[in-house]
Amino acid sequence: MTRVLSGIQPTGEIHLGNYFGALRNWVTLQDRADAFYCLVDLHALTILDEPGVLAERTLRQAAILFAVGLDPLRSTVFVQSHLPEHNQLGWVMECQASVGELSRMTQFKDKSARRSGEHISAGLFTYPALQAADILMYDADEVPVGEDQRQHIEITRDLAIRFNSRFGETFVLPTAVHPAAGARVMDLQDPTSKMSKSTDSDAGLVNVLDDPAVILRKFKRAVTDSETEVRFDRATKPGVSNLLEILSACTGVSPAELAGRYHQYGPLKSDTGEAVVELVRPVQQRYHDLLADRAELTRMLRVGADRAQAVASATLARAYAAIGMLPRN
Ligand code: TYM
Repeated sequence: MTRVLSGIQPTGEIHLGNYFGALRNWVTLQDRADAFYCLVDLHALTILDEPGVLAERTLRQAAILFAVGLDPLRSTVFVQSHLPEHNQLGWVMECQASVGELSRMTQFKDKSARRSGEHISAGLFTYPALQAADILMYDADEVPVGEDQRQHIEITRDLAIRFNSRFGETFVLPTAVHPAAGARVMDLQDPTSKMSKSTDSDAGLVNVLDDPAVILRKFKRAVTDSETEVRFDRATKPGVSNLLEILSACTGVSPAELAGRYHQYGPLKSDTGEAVVELVRPVQQRYHDLLADRAELTRMLRVGADRAQAVASATLARAYAAIGMLPRN
């Protein structure tokens, strides 16, 4: 059976990019694959400087994952820091990665540029090695992610190939999988930048837990262009194309076909807003129900951690054995 792993940082919120780029695929994949989904709280430490907030964010994020449709019986949903094996294999992967290739990671370059003049943690730099460990730990064949993670999956493959050639066949080489529509959702106010939680202004960012009235308003105010023609062309019409792609992700109709149905921007904006609201409404309801029983959420995460650990400890032991480290005995 195909093995799948993916991860999301526990911010306590998810936006439409996370949903269309990753989570929706996660839900689909649980029907045909052995799926592992990780709340990567250790990754969140790379830019965290506030005490006491991460546990709550992690629990809320778990509630969102279950609310969008992950089924704890079919998917293994767990918290990264509950398994020390992630740090342990992360170190092994740091020792496979070179400083040169880590310096070429666009996410590191972007994030460190945005923090210029501030503290830039070494963790931000070595982050892809920990991510590689997350993936390789579960012998994942497929990694369902948005397009922005492509480079991280490539370096994971490179590190696995390097390890396997140094120490013998140990790791499975994973492949990134992206959805047909919504692999790169753009900011509604700046459609040349991807929708991101670290954006400066909230107006271009649509969170799945946003109030429906707020969602409709954000779509109504979405930036388009000074023409009037509805056409799908990411290069010259990024705003309109982003709306078409979001509507496509909601309806399953291709963006080009949708373009033919509209002659004005106004109806495209309001229909897209309404389609998103219809999609998130049941998720919001389930989210609030789930969050009302924190003991149950915690229990679900413990079950996930136990199942994940059975796989993780075996892989770590295999990697140590391949290297030839002295067993504790
Ligand atoms: P994170 O938490 O930033 O994002 C979670 C998932 O959402 C996708 N995504 C998007 N997809 C489409 N359009 C967007 N605008 C958009 N923004 C985000 C991301 O591609 C991702 O799939 N490094 C990872 C977390 C991670 C991970 C892993 C992922 C850690 N270990 C192992 C896969 C496998 C990250 O920060 O994702």
